[in-house]
Amino acid sequence: MRDEPLVLGIETSCDETGVGIVRGHTLLADALASSVDQHARFGGVVPEVASRAHLEALVPTMQRALDEAGVTLADVDAIAVTSGPGLAGALLVGVAAAKGYALAAEKPIYGVNHLAAHVAVDTLEHGPLPEPAVAMLVSGGHSSLLLVDDLTAGVTPLGATIDDAAGEAFDKVARLLGLGFPGGPIIDRSARDGDRASIAFPRGLTAQKDLVAHRFDFSFSGLKTAVARWVESRERAGEPVPVADVSASFQEAVCDVLTAKAIDACRSNGVRTLVIGGGVAANSRLRVLAEERAARHGIAVRVPRPGLCTDNGAMVAALGSHLVAAGVAPSRLDLPADSAMGLTEVSVPG
Ligand code: KG4
Ligand code: ZN
Repeated sequence: MRDEPLVLGIETSCDETGVGIVRGHTLLADALASSVDQHARFGGVVPEVASRAHLEALVPTMQRALDEAGVTLADVDAIAVTSGPGLAGALLVGVAAAKGYALAAEKPIYGVNHLAAHVAVDTLEHGPLPEPAVAMLVSGGHSSLLLVDDLTAGVTPLGATIDDAAGEAFDKVARLLGLGFPGGPIIDRSARDGDRASIAFPRGLTAQKDLVAHRFDFSFSGLKTAVARWVESRERAGEPVPVADVSASFQEAVCDVLTAKAIDACRSNGVRTLVIGGGVAANSRLRVLAEERAARHGIAVRVPRPGLCTDNGAMVAALGSHLVAAGVAPSRLDLPADSAMGLTEVSVPG
């Protein structure tokens, strides 16, 4: 519908420069430039390299998005940009660019929360989100369970990782197996040829004693260490490391814990919709296991297609569109890049 808001979203919180354009819940453009190859040899994202890459990619990515959507900046009703959380220098590039475009084209600007945007993106594929819902965000920097009563007003944290993020665990385990970076997609592929029941790796924070204080929290650092020890002992014994079996068993341990806690969060809050977002939501086993387990309890699982799970500009535009439609006031033009932006803040106030 023409009268729905046309919103442009800019994402630069990590290593993807994304510009997305949506009208209401309809995705019109999703242009992306990634600096992931430049980080591969370091085994993780190098903040300075990411900032420089955003600087180089932003204007061309912006142009590609406008061309793809067949609109000009003058047609846009609002500009949304990731204000945080993320890498400070990387965020700054997007926020500064968004301010420049907003000022030049005289458009309102919304500084938005990256994690809430990971939830909002699902509306582009599956329509309005039934609320309340439970959202599980699993990426390279975050693993959280959230209760979403009203996405435009704020979300309630239920639990989070107490050490490594789920994606970080995939990246570190891939590194110790010598598989490359980023580890998630490579382990996902390697696991297809392995036996997920072959090695019993630990399930962090699932013991009865841990459930008291950490029922909805995650811990993946012990799992990573267990995989490292297992691989070392094989190597010491001069035996070959069955990479596919290790990948499959590690992946199963992560997905088992994530899905069990997400379903428990839904059930204990009387919620019938689970949304999964963030890069790890692209994991094929996580998607299958979540579906299987949720179905047993009459819970519907919503996961965007893999390209919308990893960082992109469309998710920022989707949240911006949500905020515009709800009549939320735009942010001030001096909005900050806030690397530690809290979960309860969906957009920077006006
Ligand atoms: O959301 P995202 O693109 O960036 C952050 O905000 O961190 O997530 C990136 C993370 C990386 O750790 C990557 O290894 C992981 O998501 N990832 C996956 C898969 N695809 C990406 N993890 C498991 N399975 C996948 N298929
Ligand atoms: Zn992300």
